[in-house]
Amino acid sequence: MPEELQMVPITVTVNGQRHSLSVEPRLLLVSLLRETLGLTGTHIGCDTTYCGACTVLLNGRSVKSCTVFAVQADQGEVRTVEGLAEDSKLHPVQQAFLESHGLQCGYCTPGFLMSVCQLLDKNPDPDEKAIRKGIAGNTCRCTGYQNIFKAIHAAAESMKGR
Ligand code: FES
Ligand code: FES
Repeated sequence: MPEELQMVPITVTVNGQRHSLSVEPRLLLVSLLRETLGLTGTHIGCDTTYCGACTVLLNGRSVKSCTVFAVQADQGEVRTVEGLAEDSKLHPVQQAFLESHGLQCGYCTPGFLMSVCQLLDKNPDPDEKAIRKGIAGNTCRCTGYQNIFKAIHAAAESMKGR
């Protein structure tokens, strides 16, 4: 008879809200976010850790949440795309993607937004090379990236002095 899976207690703060729950050790962070907490803005676009659609910030660093176990986020702080806007006002990175047409189908967009937030946090004035490196883990299958680059430059500009 198969042994019962032992549940693991974890506490994780997501977009400022603290959650204490018991999870299976194999549960992925992306599944915790989407299925347990209902935060479906974080997307799943592959099963090979390739696309970056699942990117979130864990303790301020971008991670592919399909490749992190929920238990690894224990005692951690997660920020997802749902946590970007404040007081019904889009985050400057969201606004820049909107205005620069940095998205078409939008499937990849939440992941890009989170990677760009981390990039601009670390480097408020990134050059082309730094931008390419910053979004190297994110794949867009529609736009050809030109408008994404424009959006990142626009976001950097609008965030200066914040
Ligand atoms: S879903 Fe594609 S890298 Fe995570
Ligand atoms: S906008 Fe369609 S995959 Fe990025």
